[in-house]
Amino acid sequence: MSTRMSRRSFLQTSAMAAAGAAVATSPLWNSANATAAEAARKVKKVAATDKLNIVGVGIGGRGAADINALESQNIVALCDCDWNYAAGEMSRFPNAKKYKDYRKMFDEIGNEFDAVVVGTADHTHACIAAQALAMGKHVYCEKPLTHTVYETRLLTKLAKANGLATQMGNQGASLNSTRQVIEAIQNGLIGEVRKVDAFTDRPIWPQGLETPAGVDPIPDTLDWDLFIGPAKYRPFNQIYHPWNWRGWWDFGTGALGDMACHILQPVVDALKLGSPVSCQGSSTNLMIDCAPNAQIVKFKFPARDNMPKVAMPECEVTWYDGGLKPDFPEGWPIGKNMNQSGGAAIFYGTKDVLVCGCYGVNPWLLSGKPVPAASSTREVANEDHQMDWVRACKESKENRVPAKSDFQFAGPLNEMVVMGVLAVRLQGLNRELMWDGKNMKFTNINPAETIQFKVKDGFSVHDGHPTFEDKYTDPINAQAFAAELIKHTYREGYALPDMPN
Ligand SMILES: NC(=O)c1ccc[n+]([C@@H]2O[C@H](COP(=O)([O-])OP(=O)(O)OC[C@H]3O[C@@H](n4cnc5c(N)ncnc54)[C@H](O)[C@@H]3O)[C@@H](O)[C@H]2O)c1
Repeated sequence: MSTRMSRRSFLQTSAMAAAGAAVATSPLWNSANATAAEAARKVKKVAATDKLNIVGVGIGGRGAADINALESQNIVALCDCDWNYAAGEMSRFPNAKKYKDYRKMFDEIGNEFDAVVVGTADHTHACIAAQALAMGKHVYCEKPLTHTVYETRLLTKLAKANGLATQMGNQGASLNSTRQVIEAIQNGLIGEVRKVDAFTDRPIWPQGLETPAGVDPIPDTLDWDLFIGPAKYRPFNQIYHPWNWRGWWDFGTGALGDMACHILQPVVDALKLGSPVSCQGSSTNLMIDCAPNAQIVKFKFPARDNMPKVAMPECEVTWYDGGLKPDFPEGWPIGKNMNQSGGAAIFYGTKDVLVCGCYGVNPWLLSGKPVPAASSTREVANEDHQMDWVRACKESKENRVPAKSDFQFAGPLNEMVVMGVLAVRLQGLNRELMWDGKNMKFTNINPAETIQFKVKDGFSVHDGHPTFEDKYTDPINAQAFAAELIKHTYREGYALPDMPN
């Protein structure tokens, strides 16, 4: 347990961990069912003309951009485990209280804020956001929403049970161009869609690496134990923090997790994809600890209910990254770059092919016909994703128009994305993995099966001969390994509320 964790926080999280615990030190941390009623009672009504009281957790990178976009509101406190990296943002809000441990902040000033912005590394999103939702706080959480499928399901259900306004930080969801894509598909402009290809030009950070053997001194300004949060402790190395944690499985989700919440959002939304039934992943050299340099993931979806103007048949979505790209559709304009703003999605319809860039930008049709403008729906000025969430926070739960990436929409998208990460990590099982989305498990891994992972990439050339001296882990039970990737065991001091029904 972190030495910085207060006795009250420890008791609270312990109470959260005890499923159905009848006794807790604070009403906030009873089981989620009790919390739902408690949290609903605690949600403070904020008039449209009043300011929302906001705290930020993880504000040195993207979190700074989010907080800056919200500076018309009251930024009451900022929390970051690295006060050097976050110094610029902290000095921008001199009146905000400063914290390193979000649990201490929630303990001490839980009654002073209405809403929480989460901009930490992926693996800590869920414990922070779930605790906030259980306290009755509205949540803006950066993408990917969480590190695991279970965590996503939990946040989605907690937000709903507690009637809170939420937004995942995939800002493209608020763009007009994204609505244009969704309406074009759902109006039947390109006919039925059975295939979508998508890609990103990421990673632009180091991947495909062995676990570093060296240990770097921890900077005075960084609380490394807090960065590790619920994950297994490992010694500090500059390769992890800041920013490059993305490539390390314990903290990040590789290029798929980093970009698919942007690039696949119009795909999932337009086609109402829901949960995939299977996925298959392959990649360049896969190490146990670090995401590979390039990967391909194929998801299969069953037919969904037809829309009024178009049927929704079975559909395959294939993801490429790390420099790999989909084939050009027949008739692709020679010389036209597929990459727009970091990637693209290509919808193959029975009548036409629609292409849009990352964040749903610049949609166009291969036929050369125009994509009609989106009909107007309610939106905030400048397609502002963060302020759309503020608008939703100030509306009552009965009359709220959800923000464009409310967790009820973002949740299923994120589940697909983080499940796709597992298709790559479990590629050593050499099969199409069958996915039971409702029960959050793969159905075709046998109980006795094992899997091994490469820990040392031992290729070298001796006297002109290629030599392979790779080292692997001992065999690991594959079912148990997959289960741990779907629902993590948290380190002591961290726990999640119970899953609401
Ligand atoms: N929406 C977007 O376009 C966009 C762009 C970049 C990043 N992101 C997302 O934002 C999140 C942060 O990414 P980043 O690029 O800003 O990373 P970063 O490493 O640059 O910044 C993360 C910040 O969180 C702090 N932090 C980490 N763990 C913490 C903890 N437990 N408690 C308090 N503070 C903690 C770090 O010290 C740092 O200041 C990621 O989930 C990422 O995917 C989204």
